[in-house]
Amino acid sequence: MKTMKIAGSDMNASVISLGCMRISKMTDQEISTLIHTAMEAGINFFDHADVYGGGKSEERFSEALGMNSSLREKMYLQTKCGIQRGYYDFSKAHILEAVDGSLKRLRTDYVDVLLLHRPDALVEPEEVAEAFTILEKSGKVKHFGVSNQNPMQIELLTKFVKQRIIINQLQLSITNTGMIDAGIHVNMEDEGSINRDGSILDYCRLKEITIQPWSPFQFGFFEGVFLNNDQFPELNKKIDALAAAKGVNNTAIAIAWLLRHPAHMQPIIGTTNPNRVKDICKAADVTLTRQEWYEVYLAAGNKLP
Ligand SMILES: NC(=O)c1ccc[n+]([C@@H]2O[C@H](COP(=O)([O-])OP(=O)(O)OC[C@H]3O[C@@H](n4cnc5c(N)ncnc54)[C@H](OP(=O)(O)O)[C@@H]3O)[C@@H](O)[C@H]2O)c1
Repeated sequence: MKTMKIAGSDMNASVISLGCMRISKMTDQEISTLIHTAMEAGINFFDHADVYGGGKSEERFSEALGMNSSLREKMYLQTKCGIQRGYYDFSKAHILEAVDGSLKRLRTDYVDVLLLHRPDALVEPEEVAEAFTILEKSGKVKHFGVSNQNPMQIELLTKFVKQRIIINQLQLSITNTGMIDAGIHVNMEDEGSINRDGSILDYCRLKEITIQPWSPFQFGFFEGVFLNNDQFPELNKKIDALAAAKGVNNTAIAIAWLLRHPAHMQPIIGTTNPNRVKDICKAADVTLTRQEWYEVYLAAGNKLP
């Protein structure tokens, strides 16, 4: 597995990360096999959130692994906060409380990265700044980032927050490419030209913020997986042909497509199946050509002006 230096940090992270959103109902044995398989395949970065499984995902992860300091030091743990039942909450009190809860459930003294999960309409960046400084000084959080935020939201935050924002976790897959389309369709009047995210892709490159594509196999908002799906015949034909030519599984091509983007993204995969993890990790050794990258993009139904 290739690794990447996450800009603004000392982390040498695997280019593919494993998300733990779906593990809460798995047995100890299943979780342990999944995580150890991922680690054997070179994954050293695990994504959590206080809300996954209603808190159970963090708890089950550490419980099933029998978390201890030697295992803890072999991995980077990232978690998120800010989603409450029915509202979003970036208040200082909530951020501090949420981190304490995550540390307890994860059975650790620190998280490597804390992300603000979804933009809070009532955000008071001065409060976020105070919370981040307390968390950094206490050693509970090493690095900070955001999720699902646009450039102006990050600008607002960074006017007050002293720590660097190193990560922005965003929904991105071959079938969910709004942030790429807008860059290709500049100056056009078609659907692709609609800039919904405020040029977030270019902004993150400019500021050296690592984009973590979430749900890299899903289309829509958790509508299903586009691979082996009759709704995407052209796309699957193209992906399968590339997979055969490169001697990997179709899942590896879907991730190689994200890794080929020069923004140095770190996709967060969410499978709970150890064999899929092994197949997907082969993506790190596949480099699509520029032409292949565009062919996949077009096979998903996208158009070039
Ligand atoms: N920041 C945010 O707002 C946000 C939102 C959502 C998710 N996330 C993060 O992103 C991670 C990934 O999200 P996700 O789980 O939706 O991503 P995903 O990797 O796109 O989807 C994984 C799901 O697809 C299923 N699947 C079926 N066929 C598959 C195939 N051929 N290849 C791969 N998966 C297949 C998996 O089932 P099996 O388990 O049976 O393989 C699993 O249920 C989460 O764990 C979380 O850490 C962040």
